[in-house]
Amino acid sequence: MTKSKSSYKCTNCDYNSPRWIGQCPNCQEWNSFVEKIETNIENNFLNKSKIDPSKLNLKKLSDIKTETQNRMLSSYLEWDRVMGGGVLPGSFIILTGDPGIGKSTLLLQVANKISKDKKVIYFSSEESLQQVKNRAQRLGIPKNSDLFFSDQSNLEAIIQIALIEKPDILILDSIQNCSLSESSNIIPGTVGQLREAGFLLCKLAKENNIAILITGHITKDGYIAGPKVLEHIVDGVFYLQGEDKWQTRILRSVKNRFGTIQETGFFEMGTEGMQEVPDINKLILHEASENPGSALISYIEGSRPLLLELQSLCVTSKFGIPQRIITGIDPKRVILIAAILEKYLHIRFSTQDIFFKISGGFKIKSTSCDLGIALSLLSSYFQKPLPEKSISIAEVSLTGQIKPINQIELQIGEAQKFGINKIFISKSQKLKSSSNTICFKNIYELIKLFPEE
Ligand code: TYD
Ligand code: MG
Repeated sequence: MTKSKSSYKCTNCDYNSPRWIGQCPNCQEWNSFVEKIETNIENNFLNKSKIDPSKLNLKKLSDIKTETQNRMLSSYLEWDRVMGGGVLPGSFIILTGDPGIGKSTLLLQVANKISKDKKVIYFSSEESLQQVKNRAQRLGIPKNSDLFFSDQSNLEAIIQIALIEKPDILILDSIQNCSLSESSNIIPGTVGQLREAGFLLCKLAKENNIAILITGHITKDGYIAGPKVLEHIVDGVFYLQGEDKWQTRILRSVKNRFGTIQETGFFEMGTEGMQEVPDINKLILHEASENPGSALISYIEGSRPLLLELQSLCVTSKFGIPQRIITGIDPKRVILIAAILEKYLHIRFSTQDIFFKISGGFKIKSTSCDLGIALSLLSSYFQKPLPEKSISIAEVSLTGQIKPINQIELQIGEAQKFGINKIFISKSQKLKSSSNTICFKNIYELIKLFPEE
């Protein structure tokens, strides 16, 4: 006989409890417990005699139909590239970012472009249709645009509309603001509701080949608000981030089942919405200084090389413990490079305050900028600028060796496009052409860039 008993499970972290509790003792999430009915497993699926052979639907690769799906292009090259070459039919995507960063604006612009040859429905559960219309007018979207709008925020109704209308793309702005059906016993706005809504929308996307783009809020720590499981269900997670300069907005893919991750697209928020910035490197180099402490580096983001300016300021410390104020990179990386320079070149960075940043407020995670960090620190320490039109692309080892890095040809090519003609690399870097390169074997050789007058 099947013996069943009820227990409660946290929808955020799967913690089990025999009773319903308001706050999960494991992940501290509120209102995340839902009832689950446990049955005696042995009686169900471990019993071979109960298996229905007609349900064994195993297939070989040759039995699976090949479907070529045409991606939906928006004519915004930055958007299409980050999506992995346009939005794929039937994909389920979340766009997230701080409030007011421009998610709704960008989605409306993209929706308008795609609606020229695809059916797109925009559900604005956060804003009234009047507000959406005002924004559309500001963005110059014509009155006769083929976009469809709805302010429906009930998920059951949204799904029914989608099943009848069969759009190519359904946009839901935002998922946190939509409610499940009246009959559902899940509390609105909770992780349970988001998880449930995520599952329903995923099913809708896959079974009906409708691409679903949702917006989601992020917590103050920068994570998507709600259950982690939402990130696992969706095919793509995209962040829209703002940098502290130039009104620049970066669209970044952090998960993409149908494209590269860490791909970035650049936009600028203007009076008429988001404008693409196709040549971000030109903008960065235009802003870069040639003063002591400034060093150019290259960094691969997704598939494209970014040329960035590192800035250091080293001053003799007035306190026993020198300050380390470092942004844009893991502070430990800069402290480590300073320690390597101190060890091998006997420069006393331990008596210096170090201020370090990446111009434009960019954030990077790569060891290919090690040499740039070293040269930027040395340049500030000696108060001597680095040679004009120079860039550093190499790693530094703990033993003071200058090490080669991957994908360097692409980065050198990009730098040369902008007239950079002194490329500092590792002596052991293998290259097809060595024009414009200046090689270093170890950290001792860097000192020759700062000759005594
Ligand atoms: P919005 O797209 O509503 O952000 P989100 O959906 O991420 O919350 O963007 C709102 C901000 O963008 C608001 O501060 C006004 C500004 N904005 C412009 O600067 N130019 C424009 O053309 C538009 C439509 C908005
Ligand atoms: Mg919005």
